[in-house]
Amino acid sequence: MTRYDDVVSVLKNLAVFSSQGSRAATAQPWIGHNPLSDSLVMLDPPQHTAIRSVVSHAFSARVLPRVEPLARAAAAAFAERAANGLEVDICDELATTLPAKVIANLLGMDDTLVDEFRTWSEDIVAVNPMTPEAARPRIIASIADLTRYVEGVFEDRKHARRDDLASDLLDAQVDGRRLDDAELVSFMFLLLVAGFETTTHLLTNSLRLLAAHPDLLARLRRDPTAIVPFVEETLRLEPSVHAALRLAMEDTEVGGVRLPAGAVVCALVDSANRDETRFEDAERFDIDRERRPNVAFGHGIHFCLGAALARAEARIALEEIVPRVGAIHVTQEPTWNTSLTIRGAMSCRIRF
Ligand code: HEM
Repeated sequence: MTRYDDVVSVLKNLAVFSSQGSRAATAQPWIGHNPLSDSLVMLDPPQHTAIRSVVSHAFSARVLPRVEPLARAAAAAFAERAANGLEVDICDELATTLPAKVIANLLGMDDTLVDEFRTWSEDIVAVNPMTPEAARPRIIASIADLTRYVEGVFEDRKHARRDDLASDLLDAQVDGRRLDDAELVSFMFLLLVAGFETTTHLLTNSLRLLAAHPDLLARLRRDPTAIVPFVEETLRLEPSVHAALRLAMEDTEVGGVRLPAGAVVCALVDSANRDETRFEDAERFDIDRERRPNVAFGHGIHFCLGAALARAEARIALEEIVPRVGAIHVTQEPTWNTSLTIRGAMSCRIRF
């Protein structure tokens, strides 16, 4: 589905388009057990409703205030270096380290493990029907390593709670029910995959777009309140998630096209965000355009749980960088990843 209205109609028609079904249809048997495939984003109601209420309760309560100081300190440290002139692969720097610190805090893990984090997340995101044979053992090993790590964190917190989301999740209760061990692990997998690389790509895209629009760098410096619409327009034009997958559970029709039961539907979020019938001059990056909701964070019951967090991380990074740097140049264009659902740069050199 490429048009805005068709993407939205698929994402909100839960009776016909199943997330759980898409998991079965796109499963890769060579992986064995992947906790991500039992996670929230792959569930339909009523299971989705029950688990989402437990985790969103734990997630929304204290996450933002807890991670804001961490994010700002990481951004400020990078901005200090950039202020003196710096050329780096941004994907090895701020775009990875800032979200890694935030996710490490949420997962209750050691933020010195940034490299492991990145490897695990990139490997798990790379799973798709075309994953080459040679890459499979490494992916299987990453899934096993992360499972072991996360199980260890929960084991530890069962004995001694800390100020982290892992502890909050152990205590979270809705209607007298707590999450079981498998649910806890699969939610942590989802946070790593959904919350880490997506934000890395948002930060890289923000800096690429600032480099392409030097007039905007000057404007954001003069008027920091324009950072918020700048981030929104970055999310519209370059969303880090480019497709949401569903399975048609019965014969149906969308936008005049007939779909048989069992069809895997790829709702192309990035295409919907550039639908010219919804966004005037849709290919143009314009932070002053009329604000209309877009689908960068999805739509309906699976709407991104981390949307406020991702927006805050990008805003904080720009609030620290923009006032300190004179100019931003891309000195080497990005190389892109090959995920079915997440789209972003694996490397991108930037000079400040
Ligand atoms: C779901 C995008 C950052 C956690 C989603 C979905 C999209 C999305 C499109 C819906 C998928 C579907 O309907 O199949 C993004 C983008 C991000 C981002 C573009 C950054 C720029 C984050 C962060 C976190 C997070 C930082 C948490 C730390 C989640 C979770 C879900 C989700 C838990 C599943 C919600 C559910 O199924 O009910 N995200 N996300 N995301 N996202 Fe994000």
